[in-house]
Formats: sequence, C-alpha cells, structure tokens
Amino acid sequence: MKPPLLAPSLLAGDPGALAASAAVPAALGLEWLHVDIMDAHFVPNLSFGPGTVAALRRHGSRQFLDTHLMMTEPHRYVEAFAKAGSSRLTIHVEPGYDQAGTLSAIRGHGCSAGIALNPGTPIEAVEPFLKDVDLVLVMTVQPGFGGQAFRADTLPKIAQVRRWRSERGLDFRIEVDGGIDVATARLCRAEGADTFVAGTSFFASEDRAAFAAAFAAL
Ligand code: DX5
Ligand code: ZN
Repeated sequence: MKPPLLAPSLLAGDPGALAASAAVPAALGLEWLHVDIMDAHFVPNLSFGPGTVAALRRHGSRQFLDTHLMMTEPHRYVEAFAKAGSSRLTIHVEPGYDQAGTLSAIRGHGCSAGIALNPGTPIEAVEPFLKDVDLVLVMTVQPGFGGQAFRADTLPKIAQVRRWRSERGLDFRIEVDGGIDVATARLCRAEGADTFVAGTSFFASEDRAAFAAAFAAL
C-alpha cells in the first residue's frame, strides 16, 4: 500500500475567501488540495471553474491541485484547466464521451490523469482505463454536495481496484471522496485506499494539525 495522503477539499472552504481557505492546509504542510468542479449537468450543483484554479495559483498556491471534474463534457475543458494550473484532472466514467482520448489529452497537456466512479456504478466500468491513469477515485457518496454520509457499500470496490493494481503491476493511487473523516478513512484504508479527500470534516475540525496527524498515521 502507498502511504496515506490527505487531500482537503476546497468545497468546504469559505466561498468568499478561497485563496485563504487553500492556504489553511498548505500551512499545515499538506501538499494536496482537492478542487471540485461541478457543471449543473452531471451533478445538480455548480462550484468552481478554471478561473478559480488560475486565481488560486495567482494568490500563491503551490499545492498539488487535485481537480475533480464532475462534468458531462470534461473533454471540452482539459486545456483550460491545464493552462489554469491544475495538477491532476480526474474525469468520471459515467457520461458518454471518449474517456480514453480524454485521459490521453490530459497527459498530453502535462497533467496527471484520474478516473472516477459513482457509488451506483459497477467497478468493472473503470477496468479498461486502469493502465492509463495515475489515480482511481472511488466516490463514497453520490457526488454533488459536501457534508453527506459515507456509504459503506462502496468499500468492496476499493478492495477490487487494489487487487487489479497488484495483479497487473500497476501504480495508480486509490482515492476516496465523500463523508471521509478519521473513522471512515480507517475503513477505506483497510481495503487499500491511500488518498483521502476530506471537506467538511477537515474545515470543521477544531484541531486541524491533529486531524492531519491522524490521517498520516492511518
Ligand atoms: C462531493 C465532492 C467532494 C466533497 C466532499 O461531490 O466530490 O469532494 O467536497 O465533501 P465532504 O468531505 O464534506 O463529504
Ligand atoms: Zn471531489
């Protein structure tokens, strides 16, 4: 298993002061920031766009910007997010577009590439893309909103992805996102997850340094 990595989600930050919110995990030495992009089509909500990513960079973010594209047509925005300064672009497997071509375009633009799946999507859907990604994102809630309850029925998918990774000698990270706190992260870690997105639980924590330390010790 890879060492555990905490990726706080900016969605739970202050929408009126995003650069300041991004600086909170950075000040704790956390190298990743998860940035949720919602298009009001793939999910029933809106969040940020490439302009937000560019603004984070302009305001001094040097974090690894783990950009989660909850979009029906992510292929149309790869170049914009890459130019804005995203580090990783994770696309969903569910909508009808050319996922393989989009993953290759993401890498062609100098970003690393991830594939994500919703709780209701069978894990087999991501299987054809495993050799072409740096990260598999197993959603542990239905995407669209922060603050939802973790779904334990997603745990077997983590275990399956981990088995495929070891059988095939691959090296991608296994990320979980949605309802993650120290307790649910432990459940995911036991199945093989190594990258933990935490929005509400991170920003609501009264002692974020201790929170980060608990994840480092998973
Ligand atoms: C959900 C987003 C998540 C969200 C997680 O649609 O993909 O990244 O920020 O929020 P919490 O940690 O509050 O469940
Ligand atoms: Zn996310």
